[in-house]
Amino acid sequence: MPAHGYPRRGKRRFDDDELTFLRRDRHRARLPAEDAADATDGLPEGDRWSTWDQSPPTQRGPRPYPDWLVTELAAVDTELGILKTGKEAEVFLVGRAVPETQRSCLLAAKRYRNAEHRTFQRDSQYLEGRKVRASRDNRAMAGRTAAGRAMIATQWAAAEFAALSQLSRAGLPVPYPVQVLGTELLLEFIGDPDGTPAPRLAETRPDPASLMALWDQLVPPLCTLARLGLAHGDLSAFNLLVHRGRLLMIDMPQVVDIIANPRGGEFLDRDATNIARWFAARGLAGCDPEPAGLAAALRVEAGLSAA
Ligand SMILES: Nc1ncnc2c1ncn2[C@@H]1O[C@H](COP(=O)(O)OP(=O)(O)OP(=O)(O)O)[C@@H](O)[C@H]1O
Ligand SMILES: [Mg+2]
Repeated sequence: MPAHGYPRRGKRRFDDDELTFLRRDRHRARLPAEDAADATDGLPEGDRWSTWDQSPPTQRGPRPYPDWLVTELAAVDTELGILKTGKEAEVFLVGRAVPETQRSCLLAAKRYRNAEHRTFQRDSQYLEGRKVRASRDNRAMAGRTAAGRAMIATQWAAAEFAALSQLSRAGLPVPYPVQVLGTELLLEFIGDPDGTPAPRLAETRPDPASLMALWDQLVPPLCTLARLGLAHGDLSAFNLLVHRGRLLMIDMPQVVDIIANPRGGEFLDRDATNIARWFAARGLAGCDPEPAGLAAALRVEAGLSAA
């Protein structure tokens, strides 16, 4: 049984029988309440019309849109299960398919929690150095009113979408950001066509050669990120996915502007040290840079220290 709790399915199209089966499944999660009314008009419970046209072009992923992405207005989104419940968000597996056709794709829907359902310790330190134009919004967020909390959730979704769009354009290995709509971010699903998600790096046990190959895949994008003046901000073996030997960075709402954030250098060092420690603990050696030298190398790339 795959991690999301649904039976493996060997094809990407959801036919009527499968949809009926999925509808009956008691583990199946519900689409968000705010989408419930007209978005589901005339559809079976748990389905909604594709939200693609509800996101304006600026809140859709970089063009050209990938061929695999279903952009047809007649498409229906079907929730297929939950991938992960986190502190700040829940990630669901969603199928987007045009009924009666072969057009379908799998998406990961990351839904940020608002109101009382999440913790906010990290918000203020990360939001430092970010511009929020309306000071009324700033006050609401600082006061942690219900409206302020909802705004923070929306901002995190927008921040992650913006970061992923920038990094995707720069050619970095991140899931393609499909669209953002309020507190929901839709991403390219990283995993198998049957809905089995790619494991996090932390869940893998690479042999020495694979470990080296993963390190060699990690360092160049981290250097590019540093050259762009950015740090991931929460880099760890839990925020990297490994799909068929390919490493992808995820979970980027807190991407840090190394220069604008007064603690930018600290975040960069912490990211480097965290991930280097994971590789070093698994015996990685004889590479360039060595794990212990990653932080210094990234500081040079970021222009924080001389080569
Ligand atoms: N695009 C994706 N494709 C497949 N799985 C994904 C994708 N995005 C996220 N996931 C899964 O959902 C998990 C949580 O995602 P993410 O790390 O972005 O959210 P989070 O709320 O910060 O979670 P956490 O609190 O555990 O760090 C990931 O570890 C991964 O297993
Ligand atoms: Mg995470």
